[in-house]
Amino acid sequence: MTTTTTAFSFSSSSSSFAAALAFFLLLALNTANGDGTFGVQQQHFYTVQLSSLFPSDSCSPAPSTKGLNKLPVFHKHGPCAQAQQLVTSTNQPKPTADEILRQDESRVQKIQSRSRKAAAAGADDVRVTGSTTIPAKDGSTVGSGNYIVTVGLGTPAKKLSLIFDTGSDVTWTQCQPCVRSCYQQKEKIFDPSSSKTYRNVSCEAAACSALAAATGNRGCSASTCVYGIQYGDASISAGFFAIEKLTLTKTDVVDEFYFGCGQNNRGNFGGAAGLLGLGRNQLSLVSQTSDKYKKLFSYCLPSSPSGTGFLTFGGAATKSAVKYTPIASVAGGDNFYGIGITAISVGGKKLPVAASVYSAAGAIIDSGTVITRLPPAAYSALRSAFRKQMSKYPLGQALSILDTCYDLSKFKTFAVPKIGFFFAGGAEVDIDALGILYANKPSQVCLAFAGNGGAKDVAIFGNVQQQTLEVVYDGAGGRIGFASGGCK
Ligand SMILES: *[C@@H]1O[C@H](CO)[C@@H](O)[C@H](O)[C@H]1NC(C)=O
Repeated sequence: MTTTTTAFSFSSSSSSFAAALAFFLLLALNTANGDGTFGVQQQHFYTVQLSSLFPSDSCSPAPSTKGLNKLPVFHKHGPCAQAQQLVTSTNQPKPTADEILRQDESRVQKIQSRSRKAAAAGADDVRVTGSTTIPAKDGSTVGSGNYIVTVGLGTPAKKLSLIFDTGSDVTWTQCQPCVRSCYQQKEKIFDPSSSKTYRNVSCEAAACSALAAATGNRGCSASTCVYGIQYGDASISAGFFAIEKLTLTKTDVVDEFYFGCGQNNRGNFGGAAGLLGLGRNQLSLVSQTSDKYKKLFSYCLPSSPSGTGFLTFGGAATKSAVKYTPIASVAGGDNFYGIGITAISVGGKKLPVAASVYSAAGAIIDSGTVITRLPPAAYSALRSAFRKQMSKYPLGQALSILDTCYDLSKFKTFAVPKIGFFFAGGAEVDIDALGILYANKPSQVCLAFAGNGGAKDVAIFGNVQQQTLEVVYDGAGGRIGFASGGCK
């Protein structure tokens, strides 16, 4: 993947602001059985009702987010987000499975090229000013498998639905006046002039310097700090770096939150008002609130687009039966949450794959990657074990990156072998039945895993596999935890 250079501009007609942005070059930056499944038929299999893979078009929110300090989580393209009018549905048709998987592959490519580059030891460092250099970053992509939460910004608080992303750091939202461009969003675009608590960040502020590390870039306009983020798919957000009051829940309020107030926004955000950065860099929401929450947050992704999950900070609502694994370091992935996979089981039997296959590549957990990516040797062992145990069902057509699909149109229920992940430190996590399969239609129900191109490409534990688990990110404790039945 090559480094791209992009000039941002808000307006060609006016102001030093436009001039500042013109030279603001962005260097490529930057069972827990799920609803509708039945109990176990055998210890090592799930019995799944085919219809449970095709959830209804109506929203069925779980009661779990009431009363606790939890933000409800919805799937961006699901009926809950649309029922609540959080995202536009009219001019942005739901993407097809092919499109979702193509965008997913593009996010994964970006993540992996970043980590390959870092492994090659800073060869692409880029001069910013004087003698300061920063590592060139490839743009991450927003991807397609996004989950959104609604937060309040400003005083009085304005409701905004943001894609939350453990692979991003800077939080941004579209802002008035959209000097250059804003894409369509369902909620009213945030207007800083109608908030009593909005402040610009000056170029001299430490937070402004920190932008370079978080986004690969920063700029200045009349001593006001300017940010710009380019995503790999030509989506962008650029504008003023600012401070605002952020209201997460009634009791979770961040008085001085640094965020991007975007006056030039384009791209593939599905009508969400922007992005909530939950990465590990110092400008992420997690780091900015570390005094209060000790870098601890957790979420549960619902088992279907029509369900509701949660996102919570500080850990008060976290289940007791959490299995932890240490946060691992990953080349080029300082802002990602690294984890160590040590083994995988299918139908109760560990795959004959050496632990070194997993450790050679390393792994991260990512809220924005849809399909789990494994080292090629691990994936082919997983596939053959799975195919063997699914041999009574006819294979169907492959779906994009998914090469093991079944035609289940003649079955009402079927048995699918359980898949377990073993993580460093001994944590063993059973994937939910709905986290094993990616169903396009009854005649195309696919094993929801894919192999990486190379043995050294970083593995990614994706969000299909995270469904219904409570995933606990304990930054201060240096560990990631999993608890089953998390959305209940
Ligand atoms: C923030 O900075 C921009 C550009 O200098 C300016 O137009 C705007 O009025 C400032 N807003 C506040 C609240 O200071």
